Amino acid sequence: PGQVCVNVAEHWKRLLLALSVMVRYAQTAAAPAPEPRIKKFQIYRWDPDSAGDKPRMQTYEIDLNTCGPMVLDALIKIKNEMDPTLTFRRSCREGICGSCAMNINGGNTLACLNKIDTNTSKPTKIYPLPHMYVVKDLVPDMSNFYAQYKSIEPYLKKKDGTQEGKEQYFQSVEDRQKLDGLYECILCACCSTSCPSYWWNGDKYLGPAVLMQAYRWMIDSRDEFTEERLSKLQDPFSLYRCHTIMNCTKTCPKGLNPGKAIAEIKKMMATYKEKKAAAT
Ligand SMILES: *[C@@H]1O[C@H](CO)[C@@H](O)[C@H](O)[C@H]1NC(C)=O
Ligand SMILES: *[C@@H]1O[C@H](CO)[C@@H](O)[C@H](O)[C@H]1NC(C)=O
Ligand code: SF4
Ligand code: SF4
Ligand code: FES
Repeated sequence: PGQVCVNVAEHWKRLLLALSVMVRYAQTAAAPAPEPRIKKFQIYRWDPDSAGDKPRMQTYEIDLNTCGPMVLDALIKIKNEMDPTLTFRRSCREGICGSCAMNINGGNTLACLNKIDTNTSKPTKIYPLPHMYVVKDLVPDMSNFYAQYKSIEPYLKKKDGTQEGKEQYFQSVEDRQKLDGLYECILCACCSTSCPSYWWNGDKYLGPAVLMQAYRWMIDSRDEFTEERLSKLQDPFSLYRCHTIMNCTKTCPKGLNPGKAIAEIKKMMATYKEKKAAAT
């Protein structure tokens, strides 16, 4: 009988809980729907593969109540629910892959790290990274940028290749710390495509992103090709087109300072040239 008693009490407890859940649900359902917050997104559209298509801005309206907080959320919502032809790159949605770099309201940044401006009386304007060839819509052609990155040989180089893979190359804690602020670069190209020197001489000037990586390998205590790396940048364009305008540092969505790295290369270059002159 004791058992039955417990079960009856338990039964009533559950019934009451179910009732209270129903009451709460009814209250929620009765709450007025929030005011829609309609935000306009004006987005650059162009499909060079479609004959006669001209670049234009297309406006999409989104209720911010039904959208995630970042500009990338809005782009994904548009593509999923309104217009599957809208084209952009993205992968990680957390500022790691660098794919979603674009120009938002006049600044180069990552769409996944950029909060939607919730002021609904201002449209958000989105363009591809400036002064790049466009593949389609917000997708720029990164071929030249990647070829430039390849040209600086962005990997550890040793004079004696025979020891490669045989043992670890150790580095002191202090030497490792010299790479902080450099290795975090995700090669999104926001900096290079904000640099007026890169806009006008992007074929010959390496630009801040690639130069910062060149510097990252020059100062790696384990690398033995510092002088060769410097010597490759001596021409009037590769490095010296930087006029310290500092757009690059201002725009970096990872808070890095490519302008400073370039200044450091210029200092190393001066020392290197003196040494070379003294030797001859
Ligand atoms: C929203 O933007 C409009 C137009 O630029 C401006 O006049 C207004 O002050 C802004 N509102 C807020 C809350 O910032
Ligand atoms: C770069 O700087 C110039 C001049 O300081 C400015 O006019 C331009 O809008 C900037 N560009 C970007 C993409 O930040
Ligand atoms: S500091 Fe140099 S690399 Fe950076 S934006 Fe200016 S010119 Fe370009
Ligand atoms: S330095 Fe910053 S802006 Fe430039 S490529 Fe790296 S992460 Fe992007
Ligand atoms: S989606 Fe990877 S950085 Fe934005």
